[in-house]
Amino acid sequence: IPVEPFDFIIFGGTGDLSERKLLPALYHRQRDHQFSEPTRIIGTSRAKLDDKEFQDFARKAIAEHVQKEYIDKDELEKFIGRLSYLPADATTGAGFDKLKKEIGNSKSIRAFYLAVTPALFGDIAGQLKAHDMITADSRIVVEKPIGRSLASAGDLNDKIGSVFGEHQIFRIDHYLGKETVQNLMALRFANALYQPLWNSAHIDHVQITVAETVGLEDRVTYYDTAGALRDMVQNHMLQLLCLVAMEPPSSMDANAVRDEKLKVLRSLKRINGQEAPKSTVRGQYRAGASAGGAVKGYLDELGRKDSTTETFVALKAEIGNWRWAGVPFYLRTGKRLATRVSEIVIEFKPVPYNIFGESAGNVMPNQLVIRLQPDEGVKQYIMIKDPGPGGMRLRQIPLDMSFAQSFDGRSPDAYERLIMDVIRGNQTLFMRRDEVEAAWTWVDPILNAWAENSQEAQGYTAGTWGPSASIALIERDGRTWHESN
Ligand code: BG6
Repeated sequence: IPVEPFDFIIFGGTGDLSERKLLPALYHRQRDHQFSEPTRIIGTSRAKLDDKEFQDFARKAIAEHVQKEYIDKDELEKFIGRLSYLPADATTGAGFDKLKKEIGNSKSIRAFYLAVTPALFGDIAGQLKAHDMITADSRIVVEKPIGRSLASAGDLNDKIGSVFGEHQIFRIDHYLGKETVQNLMALRFANALYQPLWNSAHIDHVQITVAETVGLEDRVTYYDTAGALRDMVQNHMLQLLCLVAMEPPSSMDANAVRDEKLKVLRSLKRINGQEAPKSTVRGQYRAGASAGGAVKGYLDELGRKDSTTETFVALKAEIGNWRWAGVPFYLRTGKRLATRVSEIVIEFKPVPYNIFGESAGNVMPNQLVIRLQPDEGVKQYIMIKDPGPGGMRLRQIPLDMSFAQSFDGRSPDAYERLIMDVIRGNQTLFMRRDEVEAAWTWVDPILNAWAENSQEAQGYTAGTWGPSASIALIERDGRTWHESN
C-alpha cells in the first residue's frame, strides 16, 4: 500500500549509513511502488556536492548494496529523479536557508533523518527550529548511540525534546525492524500454545546470543569509546530481552507495547560492584582466524596498545517480577566470534522423572530456538523414540520451521520497514525516551562496577566463542550455552 507523499531529508547524506542502508532501503520501497507523488529525497551534509554528484553517489550505493536481480532500470531512474542535494552546516547554520527554500511550502510529511554523530543532534534540531522548518507533520529520526550513560542520554533527549514532541521522535533500534524480531511477537501472542508455559514454572532459563565475525570495521573512534556493553547490550540485546519477557500488551499500539517493555526494563535487578565479577564477563579479541583467514587482534586493528575496551560481553540478568523470578537470562555478544549468529533460546524445565531408565538415554529438556539471523527460523526441540526395533532409545530432534523454505521472496531489510513506519507515523518499533533511559539506568551501574573493580577485558582468540570465563558463567549454574551451528 503506498504511503502519503513525503520529503525525506538525510543529514549525513553522503555518509556510511546513507550509502549502505538508507538509499538502498528507499530504492527497494520505490521498486515495490510504495511512494506516491510528489515524494522527494534530499541529501545534505557539509560536503559540497551538487545534485548530479549526489545522484551518482546513490547510483553507486545501489549498485553495491542491492542485489542485481532487484535492479529495475525504470524504477531506478524514477528513484534517482527524486534525489537532490544541498550542503549545510548545523554548527554555523550555513546552508539552512537554502534547504528551507528547497523544501518550500510543501504539505508533504517531512522526515528529518539524522545519520550523523549524536554530537550534532542538538545543533540540527536547533537549526530546524530557528529556520522554521518544522511542521505538524514533521518527524525526526535518530540513530544510536543515544548517549553513553544515563546522564548523556538525558541530555540528548532534552535537546531533541525541546524542539520536537515525543510523538515526532523516532529513535531507531534496527533490531526491532528485523522480520524475525517482529516474528517473536507473533510467536508469543498469536499462538495459545506457549502462553501457559511462558513463566518461571515452566521455563528454566533464557539465552540470548548475538555473535558477529566482523572486527572493528571502519569504526575505530566510535567503537573504542563505546565497547560491547554500550554498543549492543544497552539497546539491541535489552530490546530482545524485553520482547521475550514482556506481558502481553493489550494491542499493537505503540504505547501499549512500549509500556510493557518499560516495565521489564524497570524490573531488571541491578548488578552492583559486588555482583559484577560473578555475573559479568568482559573480553577483548586477540589475533586469530576468522571467516577463513588470519586476523589481527583488537589492539593491532586499533593501532594502540593501551585500550581496555571490551569487544565481548557475557552476563547473567535477572528480572524481579512474578513471571520471571528465578529464571536467569544469559546474554552474550561479541566481535570476531566463531560464527555469525543471533538467536534466542528458551529452555524449558526437564520432565519431573525419567520413566524410561538410563538405557534409553538422557531426557533432554525442550528448547525453543528462535534464530534471528542468518537462516532465519524457529526450531522447537523435542524428544522422540529413535525409530527402529532396537528397543526404547530416546533422541532429541527439532521441529524445524525455516523461513527460507516456507516463504518465497526477499526478506526486506530492517530499514525498509522502519523508514515506512516513520512516514506512517507508527512508533511501535521505535524506542520511547523512558525506555532508553531505563536501559541506561540498568547499564550504568555495570559500567561503574567495572571501573571501580578494574574488571579487565580478558583476551580471547579471534574465531572462538569468547573468554573461557563466559563458559564458566553459565556452567557454574549447571547449564550450558546452546551450540549454534
Ligand atoms: C550496530 C552495532 O548497532 O549493530 C554494530 O553498532 C553491529 O557494532 C551491528 O555490528 C549489528 O547489526 P546486524 O544487523 O548486522 O546484526
